[in-house]
Amino acid sequence: MDCLAFSITYRLASETRKKVLNLFSHKNPNPDGISKLKIISLVINESLRLYPLMIGIIRKVDKEVGLGHLILLPNLHFYISNLALHHDPQIWGEVVHKFKSDRFSQGIAKTANDYNGASFFPFGIGPQTCVGMNLALTQVKIALSMILQRDGSSLPSTSSPPF
Ligand code: HEM
Repeated sequence: MDCLAFSITYRLASETRKKVLNLFSHKNPNPDGISKLKIISLVINESLRLYPLMIGIIRKVDKEVGLGHLILLPNLHFYISNLALHHDPQIWGEVVHKFKSDRFSQGIAKTANDYNGASFFPFGIGPQTCVGMNLALTQVKIALSMILQRDGSSLPSTSSPPF
């Protein structure tokens, strides 16, 4: 999530900063306020969609299984690229490469076309989903809130992601 702060547009950063100051003023962020920071959740999701920290997961086939028109044989290792899925215009539309956190405002299920639960999985999927997901998300919200509580003059002025 290194580039998260850089990906936020000036407008979004100012809006988020106002919300953060409204909730916490200059005091330490608290759990009540953190749960109200929806706007930061949207920014985190969009950052993790464009720049996922884990770009894929590897699975080993246990028993022979059919997958669409494929038959996967036991002991086969296969790679599922969430990076590719997160950047697929068929799922996210033509503005797939644009940082547009609003796309998550109606919830993930309504965001992606043909959503089947596997279009967006920055924390993995299925029984091995990241156990630290909630901790990581809370830490990012706290860190970002504390950065935004500081002087707003250093907020990014770019309106698009760095790369
Ligand atoms: C932004 C931060 C993080 C990201 C993007 C992330 C991503 C992931 C992903 C994609 C997996 C699934 C790997 C797979 O299916 O092969 C995973 C698993 C896991 N993560 Fe995270 N993780 C993050 C933070 C954390 C933190 C803070 C902890 C611990 C405090 C943690 C602990 C774990 C563990 C233990 C698993 C293995 C779960 C299992 O196999 O049952 N992660 N993580």
